Amino acid sequence: MNSSLASQAERARNVKLPVEKLIWTRWSPRCMSGEPLTETELATLFEAARWAPSSYNNQPWRFLFTKPGSSDWSLFFEPLIPFNQSWVAKASILMVAVSAKLFTHNNKPARTHSFDTGAAWMALALQGWSMGLVVHGMEGFDEEKIRLNLEIPEDHQIEAMIAIGKPGDPASMKPELKERETPSSRELVSSFAYPGKFRRKK
Ligand SMILES: Cc1cc2nc3c(=O)[nH]c(=O)nc-3n(C[C@H](O)[C@H](O)[C@H](O)COP(=O)(O)O)c2cc1C
Repeated sequence: MNSSLASQAERARNVKLPVEKLIWTRWSPRCMSGEPLTETELATLFEAARWAPSSYNNQPWRFLFTKPGSSDWSLFFEPLIPFNQSWVAKASILMVAVSAKLFTHNNKPARTHSFDTGAAWMALALQGWSMGLVVHGMEGFDEEKIRLNLEIPEDHQIEAMIAIGKPGDPASMKPELKERETPSSRELVSSFAYPGKFRRKK
C-alpha cells in the first residue's frame, strides 16, 4: 500500500465498522509517474484476478494489455476520450477488461459474465493497491473503436478499460486534474442494502 495515498483516504473517509483497511483506503488516483511496472508486478496482478470466483468456475474475464512504447499502444490509447488520454499518458499499463458471454462448457449464455469479470477486476485492483500501485478503471472510451482495433469478437463484452502505474507527484499535474486528485465518499449502506423488496433510490 502507498502510505501517503492510503493516509489521504484515512483522513477523507468515514468508515463506520472495522472493515479491512485495504478495502476502504483504496481509491483511484490519476497521477502516475510513467515508471514501468516489473514483469513480476504485472504477473502478480493477473495472479490475483485469477483467483476470483465465477459462475460454474467459467472464468470469463480476459485482460488485454499494452505498455507505452509497444507498437499496439495507440490501438488502446486512441479510443480513450481526451480527458482520459490527458492522464493515462503517464500510465505504465493500459488494459481492456473483456468478458466471454457464453459458457465454455456448453456455449450457452452465461448470465453473470459481467459480474464475474467485475470480481476479477476488483481482485486485481486491490492487489495493485496493496503493492502501492495506482489502478484506475475507465468507461470513457469509444467501445466500437476498441472492438475494431483489438479484434474483439461480438460474443465477448467490452467491460471497461484500466490504467495502471506507479504513483506520481500531484504537483506535476495540471490544476484541473490536481483538484480532482482526492478520495471520494460513498452513500450510506441503507441506500443499497435492506431487507425485502426492491426500493428505488430517492
Ligand atoms: C468501471 C469504471 C469506470 C470508470 N470510468 C472512469 C473514467 O472514464 N475516467 C475517470 O477518470 N475515472 C473513471 N472511473 C473512476 C471512478 O470515477 C471512481 O472509481 C469513483 O469515483 C470512486 O472513486 P474511488 O475509486 O477513488 O474510490 C471509473 C471507475 C470504474 C470502476
